[in-house]
Amino acid sequence: MRILVTGGAGYIGSHTAKALAQAGYEPVVFDNLSEGHRWAVKWGPLVEGDLSDGALLRHVVATYGIPRSVPITESHSQIPISPYGESKRAVERFLYWYGQAYGADWMALRYFNAAGADPDGEIGEDHHPETHLIPTAIQAALGERPVVEIYGTEYPTPDGTAIRDYVHVTDLANAHVLALQYLLGGGESAALNLGTGEGKSVREVIAAVERVTGQRVPVREAARRSGDPRVLVADPAKAGRVLSWSPQYSSLETIVETASRWHKVHAPAASGLDPDIPGRLIQAGEESPAARYAMTGSGTAVEVPSLEGEQE
Ligand SMILES: NC(=O)c1ccc[n+]([C@@H]2O[C@H](COP(=O)([O-])OP(=O)(O)OC[C@H]3O[C@@H](n4cnc5c(N)ncnc54)[C@H](O)[C@@H]3O)[C@@H](O)[C@H]2O)c1
Repeated sequence: MRILVTGGAGYIGSHTAKALAQAGYEPVVFDNLSEGHRWAVKWGPLVEGDLSDGALLRHVVATYGIPRSVPITESHSQIPISPYGESKRAVERFLYWYGQAYGADWMALRYFNAAGADPDGEIGEDHHPETHLIPTAIQAALGERPVVEIYGTEYPTPDGTAIRDYVHVTDLANAHVLALQYLLGGGESAALNLGTGEGKSVREVIAAVERVTGQRVPVREAARRSGDPRVLVADPAKAGRVLSWSPQYSSLETIVETASRWHKVHAPAASGLDPDIPGRLIQAGEESPAARYAMTGSGTAVEVPSLEGEQE
C-alpha cells in the first residue's frame, strides 16, 4: 500500500517514511524541499511540489484534506500562546470538520520535542538554521558554533531553566505506522500526545551532551523568551491505550547518542548530498501513484476518501 508522506523530506517526515517502509508500506514523499533534503528521501519516490498546488495534489491522490499542548492531556484546554500553536490547533479543527463533512478518518499526532536521529545512522536532523537545543549543543561541543544560549534563568525550576519533553524521532515515526494501522483497522479519529511524560531541563540536556561527546558545551545565559512556556510535558497515556505505543528510544542518553553519531558522521557532509536522489522524481503530468491514506510530517494522518472504481 502506498502512503503519502507530506513533508517527508524533512526531519520527522523522513524518519516516518523509513518506519513505513520497514512496516511494508511504500512511502510517497510530497515535499517542496523548502526545508527538506533530497538525500533524506530513500524509501520511495519523491514528488516535488507545494501543498498549495491543488492541481498537483489532486494529480497525486484523490481530493484530501490538507493536514495539519503538567503533564498535558489531550483534553487540556488549547489556548495557543503563539501563531505556531494557533496553526496547529486550526489544522486539528480542519481535520475534525473535514471528517464530519466527508467521513474521512484522521489522527492528529501531537509531537512534543522531537530529538535524536535514526539509530542506523541513515538520516537525522538537519535544519537551516538549526535552532533546537540538542543539535546546537552538539555543534557547540564540537566547536562548530561558539556557544549555546540558555534561556530563562528566572524559571523556578531546580536549575532555573525550562523543562521539555524530548521524544526520539524514531518513536514518533513508529507512532505514525501504528496510527495508520489503527485507522486501517477501523479505529476512530483521535488526537494523541506523543511524549515520554518526563521533562528534562536545559542543563540536564547540556550535561548529557557533555557526557556523550566528552567535550564541554560553552553556554551563555539569556533572558527568558516571552511566550515560552516553563514546562511542556506530555501525558502520553492515551497514545499507549489507543495505539499500544510506548517510546523505545527516548532516554536522554539514547537521544543524544544517536544525534551526536549522526552529526559527527553525516551532518557536515549532508548539505552537499542533494544530488544523491534515491527516490524517483515524478513530474506533473506523469502518471502518479494512487493513494488512499495520507500521513504527514506535520503530525497528522488522513484517510483519503476512495475514488469510484479505485483499487487499493
Ligand atoms: N521538530 C520538532 O520538535 C517538532 C515538534 C512538534 C511539532 N513539529 C511539527 O512537525 C512538522 C515537521 O517538523 P520537522 O522538524 O520535521 O520540520 P522540517 O522542516 O524538517 O520538515 C518539514 C518538511 O515540510 C516541507 N514543506 C514545508 N512547507 C511545505 C509546503 N508548502 N509544501 C510541501 N512541503 C513543504 C519542508 O521542505 C520539509 O521537508 C512541522 O509542522 C513542525 O511544526 C515539530
